[in-house]
Amino acid sequence: MTDMLNWIDVGPVEGIPLQGARTLQTRTDRIAIFRTLDQQVFALLDRCPHKDGPLAQGIVHGHFVTCPLHNMVFSLETGQAQGPDDGCAAKVEVKIIEGSVHVGLTPSQMGKRHEG
Ligand code: FES
Repeated sequence: MTDMLNWIDVGPVEGIPLQGARTLQTRTDRIAIFRTLDQQVFALLDRCPHKDGPLAQGIVHGHFVTCPLHNMVFSLETGQAQGPDDGCAAKVEVKIIEGSVHVGLTPSQMGKRHEG
């Protein structure tokens, strides 16, 4: 499915707070883009699967984020809830190209039909 994505450049890795996140508003939802201490970048929808908590405002630790509302912990790599909790935060594709963060948006997030 990644060939259906529209990759957009959202600026330098340094634009994301270390062990924090920034958000990107799309037509259909908001994306949380995280930067970990080891300089990796991950993205999830900014909507906790429990009760829609803003994951971008959570605590980043290792490759995990703790939701600010009820402290569920999610893997940034898979979106999967950790420990006894069920649920999965929706993962968004992201990659770094020459120091810039590129996020893969679906056609509906772009607000356009897929062309070609
Ligand atoms: S809304 Fe995230 S843990 Fe409840």
